[in-house]
Amino acid sequence: MMQLLKESTSYIQKQIGDFAPEFGVILGTGLGALVNDIEVQYALSYADIPNFPVSTVESHSGKLIFGKLADRPVVVMQGRFHYYEGYTMDQVVFPVRVMKLLGVKKLFVSNAAGGLNPSFNTSDLMVITDHINLQPSNPLIGKNHNELGPRFPDMSDVYDEEMVRQAMIVAEDADFDIREGVYVSVPGPMLETPAEYKYLSIIGADAVGMSTVPEVIAARHMGMPVFAVSVITDLCTPDKLKKVVLADILEAAAIAEPRMTHLIKELIRLQ
Ligand code: HPA
Repeated sequence: MMQLLKESTSYIQKQIGDFAPEFGVILGTGLGALVNDIEVQYALSYADIPNFPVSTVESHSGKLIFGKLADRPVVVMQGRFHYYEGYTMDQVVFPVRVMKLLGVKKLFVSNAAGGLNPSFNTSDLMVITDHINLQPSNPLIGKNHNELGPRFPDMSDVYDEEMVRQAMIVAEDADFDIREGVYVSVPGPMLETPAEYKYLSIIGADAVGMSTVPEVIAARHMGMPVFAVSVITDLCTPDKLKKVVLADILEAAAIAEPRMTHLIKELIRLQ
């Protein structure tokens, strides 16, 4: 795997010359418009990068975008890989590991999630302060790559507290509400049954989604500070639960998109 990572990294480095991204961003379902705020310098299709998985979900366009956001050098994944698409966990987190080899220092992640906390509303932003991994696997299973990180990485402080604090200030300054909570990652691709939503709430989650935790585990394994935010796209408490289709999720994400974009951009400016 280290060989594959190094091949991809050196291909990318050839394309981007001396551009050196400091911040990595992974954009979730319906949340790709942050890219419009970037002064794009290079855009590489996943399909052209050796060893890169290729995105299959129609609502994601697969590109690695290099440029300036808030005048800082970033690399943005437009489109991410999900375990439910049939990728291995190593494939799901491959781009995050490449980011690290490219010199990225901090990771920013967004996702669309179902709201389990009864005080949440559709299109709320929830800063992730902790997570529960209910994916059937994780990217650290198997041989440990000591060049990347330790065999038994600590997970007692996964989400960077300073960036959570800064996010609260950015939201306050911009005059929008922001929530904090625990994100539970499930394999999907089906949404949950009412009994499953109840269970996820009982075990301590405020929001549920099908992504993020694998990438975050890989990032923390490599010692990268992480900031992650969910957009609540549907409400999953028994009194508010209704049938959900992808179009609803995309619509709720679109409403939250300007706030999410502002948040990530201003946070990056503060680093
Ligand atoms: N469950 C799981 N994943 C999701 C949901 C949900 O309700 N909404 C958006 N992603």
